[in-house]
Amino acid sequence: MIRRFGSAKALKGGIRVPGDKSISHRALILGALAHGKTEIEGLSPGKDVESTRRCLAALGVELGEEGRALVVEGKGPGAFLPPSRPLDCGNSGTTMRLLAGVLAGRPFRSTLMGDSSLSRRPMKRIIRPLRLMGAKISARDDDFAPLTIQGGELRGIHYEMEVKSAQVKSCVLLAGLQAQGETQVSEPSPSRDHTERLLRYLGAPISVEEKSIRIKYGELQARPIPVPGDFSSAAFFLAAAAALPGSELTLEDVGVNPTRTGLLDVLRRMGAEISLSGEREAAGEPVADIRVRGKELSAVEVGGEIIPRLIDELPVLFSIATQAEGETVIRDAAELRVKESDRIAAMAENLRRLGANVEELPDGLVIRGPTPLRGAELHGFSDHRVVMACAVAGLFASGETVIEGAEWAEISFPGFFELLSEVCVAR
Ligand code: S3P
Repeated sequence: MIRRFGSAKALKGGIRVPGDKSISHRALILGALAHGKTEIEGLSPGKDVESTRRCLAALGVELGEEGRALVVEGKGPGAFLPPSRPLDCGNSGTTMRLLAGVLAGRPFRSTLMGDSSLSRRPMKRIIRPLRLMGAKISARDDDFAPLTIQGGELRGIHYEMEVKSAQVKSCVLLAGLQAQGETQVSEPSPSRDHTERLLRYLGAPISVEEKSIRIKYGELQARPIPVPGDFSSAAFFLAAAAALPGSELTLEDVGVNPTRTGLLDVLRRMGAEISLSGEREAAGEPVADIRVRGKELSAVEVGGEIIPRLIDELPVLFSIATQAEGETVIRDAAELRVKESDRIAAMAENLRRLGANVEELPDGLVIRGPTPLRGAELHGFSDHRVVMACAVAGLFASGETVIEGAEWAEISFPGFFELLSEVCVAR
């Protein structure tokens, strides 16, 4: 699908974004592992979370809808049934990597497959620790989906993660929940901790130190899980509003887990005015309303420990850096090359088409601004975040911008373009 749109002067109003994708996957999976009925409110309507739902249903988990809640009838991991067909994870890396951790502990054989993008993403990072725990796994070229897992009795391990990845950490923790003895995972720098928070909320024997998590065999008890708005979806609006002086936008009920909100720190350093109000907690996760006022932004250098805290927000940060005064340098983000697309190459190409001054690094981008952009035809690279980040860049461009593959936004954010046009004030 092609989307055409014009430039914007400012973003104004108050909106809500759909439920958090990361928390939604975990709510479904942990709800299925728990004993009792888990009521999930605000589940992400995106296609990725739909993939997790379908895989769980194929494993015999009962899921239904009651009013506004999605209900998971958890009967413990022992109730999981061998699937009759390969489990299709679609475009969702979180589905594949987290379910692999669950299936490693189940005494049957199962296969996880995905679309062409997911089949190109590295899986050795989860295969290695799961094998150390005792699972038998085969994969194409020993690294790529489809993955066939013969699960069974697992033993706890001490695992030092090489890649900074919440999906790898979560995979090992979910296997550790089913293993004999203690499992310890250490990460080089803190990545999103939704799995740890939800495991603790549901009663798992888990303890967390700054960069190391321990878990033992345990049973989970169902509790209601309200899912906050997705910070990574809010990010497109926050960033666009921050970069358009005169904007005044409020995003309500957004998850503000500090392992996710690195973009707020960066936007403030660039000069944007951001405030949080109504801070509260929901199922162990911090939630708030975020208000942003647009300013003339200045360039920043971003790298090191903050990267996992804004990894999914880097594409939109690239977009607004074209409007910031000076040289923005983003480094230590080579992981972006193995996301749904190579997000460094994809954004460099699209921003150049709009006339931006962009230099590609092996692990990031250098962007010199501010540059007046001109509307152009952009390629979505079958990647939801590239599509939405390009839509934001298009707001700064004169004339018409066309995005091919705009429907990919539905992976995490159905209704993105409609909500964007609702808050945009035309130039
Ligand atoms: C996610 C972790 C991150 C992130 C992805 C969602 C999660 O991936 O980019 O969108 O829900 O755990 P990595 O674990 O590969 O860093």
